[in-house]
Amino acid sequence: AENIGVRAIDVYFPSRYVDQAELEQHDGVSAGKYTIGLGQSKMAFCDDREDISSVCMTAVQGFMEKFNVSYSDIGRLEVGTETIIDKSKSTKTALMRLFEESGNFSVEGIDTTNACYGGTSALFNACQWMDSAAWDGRLALVVAGDIAVYASGNARPSGGCGVTCILVGPDAPLALEFPLRGTFMEHIYDFYKPNMSSEFPTVDGPLSVTSYVRAVDHAYTAYLDKLDKFGSGGEAASLKDIDYLVFHSPYTKQVVKGLARIAYNDFMRAPESSEVFAEVQQFKEVSREESYGNKVLEKAFIDLSKSAFAAKTEPSLLAARNIGNMYTASVFFGLASLLSEVPYAQLEGKRVALFSYGSGCAASLYSFRVRADTKAIADTIRLRERLELRTKVSPVEFERAMELREKTHNAQEYEPVGNVDDLFPGTYYLQKIDSMWRRAYGRT
Ligand code: ACO
Repeated sequence: AENIGVRAIDVYFPSRYVDQAELEQHDGVSAGKYTIGLGQSKMAFCDDREDISSVCMTAVQGFMEKFNVSYSDIGRLEVGTETIIDKSKSTKTALMRLFEESGNFSVEGIDTTNACYGGTSALFNACQWMDSAAWDGRLALVVAGDIAVYASGNARPSGGCGVTCILVGPDAPLALEFPLRGTFMEHIYDFYKPNMSSEFPTVDGPLSVTSYVRAVDHAYTAYLDKLDKFGSGGEAASLKDIDYLVFHSPYTKQVVKGLARIAYNDFMRAPESSEVFAEVQQFKEVSREESYGNKVLEKAFIDLSKSAFAAKTEPSLLAARNIGNMYTASVFFGLASLLSEVPYAQLEGKRVALFSYGSGCAASLYSFRVRADTKAIADTIRLRERLELRTKVSPVEFERAMELREKTHNAQEYEPVGNVDDLFPGTYYLQKIDSMWRRAYGRT
């Protein structure tokens, strides 16, 4: 198949959010800590009415209806998630109930899990299936989604919730650039979920932040090496070869640092290659290991990369800033934001790179070429409009919902108490968990 990639993309996020400035006040932290320090405006959340199966069903059914795709046309369905409600039964199988009416049960693919990276692996799997002798001509769906919740404390404002549904096919407007892909994986305990009875991760915040930046270094370097080898040739590859760079966003401030780190890498590869590097020559002597904790260096490269950030990355942060971290879905919400915020006239023919990071850790930087009109996608997502349709609730109400989730996380024989009227139309919701932990759902 030719030009395999993203044919269409849609997103789902909950109808309610908490305002980060109000949360600062409520938590008694200094004004600006969440809004400026983390770069977050709003955080989406859900109560006990939604779980990973329901939010993924909402996203998939919504996608199929809006883009008018038939379940019979799907030959592969991959799910990336780290929100686990069952140690054996995959979210993919929960989604198969949506296929029942079509009679199509011949659907390959299963869940992929590693923190925020599962969706990226799912996308690679779907594209590679299509590029292989195993492909039977049908389309693929890639679902990436999470309910990102943290224990109360300093990590809590970096939560969120969202799901993306991507249709993968040949002749796609966003064609994956095989084999331009840089990957970095290593063993590290920065963010993980060893406590099976809790929905919350165990987090070493400072280590996760350094690990993210280290992964940027390695994945970007590997990507540039591939670009030098397989790319158009000529000058050494650098950020100038990437028109838009979308990052996994735990919170948007981390993304500012991510792009600054890209500039740092360009500098270290060729310190004399650009005039803008004149002001940072003193950092040439700083070792890479030392550079990670060096705030002066970090600030210098944030300043130096400001215009590149505004042009190449800022438009991809609309959803992240207003929803929060969505783990596996975060980077694809970035892509959806970019397609929504930048008109096709500007995107046409451009290279869009994605940096995906999952703690633990697994990271890849890879790219797409925009080769056909993306307006229909933007018009279907209606991102800005839908973000505005949400309801703001108080931090007290948000905390009540978090407590409810915490208390009922492992419930058996349980009927959720959350108000179904709070949900957007077309949302699947949990009706009941029976004595054998089987879940029943309804749809608004
Ligand atoms: N006004 C402006 N900025 C402020 C203010 C203020 N009033 N107060 C603090 N800040 C700044 C700090 O200077 C800091 O900036 P810096 O990052 O440039 O140094 C930033 O806000 C955060 O403040 P910290 O004191 O460092 O925050 P804290 O340690 O309480 O929590 C953390 C931050 C560790 C990221 C926490 O939210 C967390 O653990 N989150 C989950 C882990 C995570 O998201 N990691 C990222 C990659 S892994 C992943 O994707 C899950």
